[in-house]
Amino acid sequence: MATNPAQPTFKPLVFSGVQPTGNLHLGNYLGAIVKFVELQKSHECIYCVVDLHAITVWQDPAELTRNTREVTAAFLACGIDPKKHIIFNQSQVHEHAELAWVFNCVARMGWLNRMTQFKEKAGKDRENVSVGLFVYPNLMAADILVYRATHVPVGEDQKQHLELSRDIAQKFNNDFSSSIAARGFGEAFFPQPEPLIQGPATRVMSLRDGSKKMSKSDASDYSRINLTDDADAIAQKVRKAKTDPDALPSEEKGLTGRPEAENLVGIYAALDNKTKADVLRQFGGGQFSTFKNALSDLAVAKLGPIGGEMKKLVADTAHIDSILAEGSDRARAIAGETMKTVKDIVGFIRA
Ligand code: TYM
Repeated sequence: MATNPAQPTFKPLVFSGVQPTGNLHLGNYLGAIVKFVELQKSHECIYCVVDLHAITVWQDPAELTRNTREVTAAFLACGIDPKKHIIFNQSQVHEHAELAWVFNCVARMGWLNRMTQFKEKAGKDRENVSVGLFVYPNLMAADILVYRATHVPVGEDQKQHLELSRDIAQKFNNDFSSSIAARGFGEAFFPQPEPLIQGPATRVMSLRDGSKKMSKSDASDYSRINLTDDADAIAQKVRKAKTDPDALPSEEKGLTGRPEAENLVGIYAALDNKTKADVLRQFGGGQFSTFKNALSDLAVAKLGPIGGEMKKLVADTAHIDSILAEGSDRARAIAGETMKTVKDIVGFIRA
């Protein structure tokens, strides 16, 4: 038996999302947004500002609004074309929440109990976190599958959630197989979405601690380069980035056990569209200070214009909101069709 006979029949479609929780940083940019921009050349793409996900932890309402516009501005400033592709915010398309409920009834407690991100975020205070935080990955599966999307560009930290999305799709297809077949969808209504996690910066680490992921919520602003940082801030953060006393190696294996050096080399490689080996050929044997100066110049050259454009774009809230409204209309048209069929498959009566 073929492992996945129905997969080839799905139309290639890219979906991904970013939470509007403030401090968009270099990790979000290199791990995800750069890929979004690249994929729009070859695929139809849907990019979502996932505000429903954001409220799984407390968000100040005015800041949530501002951050939603800021992520939208980042998508636009990085070059995503909202006419050719879809940019929208999740809460404007209620089908995400609706399908997530169905998936709450498909996914198993045991599967969610294994999610490392929940364990990290909940920490020792499990009794006190929102129920939403626990079922967050089911909503993520719904985001992707309500468009029957096939490809999902994300950073390394989302890999486990993507695997869960695949498990949910498969279980739904199995649980409802006769109903799916009876409606002419063959063996699978949902595709198995494929994670796209590639390149030298799929997990950008904190500039202060090479063992910790660069994150929006790190208390130290020096741990990350924000997309809105100006040239001086970028230069200062790169200069202060933690390193070790040794010179840079000439080959990649020399980075083993040197997480801070490896991180900076990976960042340089991703910003310059090179491999780590290329970067080490150029800078290997040299002093860290020389490399850091070059990295700082490169980061300023690449990120400076994006930050500037973001600031201009967020000032025009009516323009941003109209892009989100238009994108939401187009997203709803697709998601609405999927939800109608899901209701039929599950056996819900609808008018
Ligand atoms: P979020 O908002 O935390 O991050 C957005 C994207 O940035 C990537 N990322 C990183 N990549 C490399 N290094 C880092 N240090 C780093 N930090 C973040 C994330 O992997 C992500 O791709 N659950 C998702 C949002 C989401 C989603 C979806 C994604 C909701 N629904 C459906 C894909 C498909 C999240 O919290 O991303």
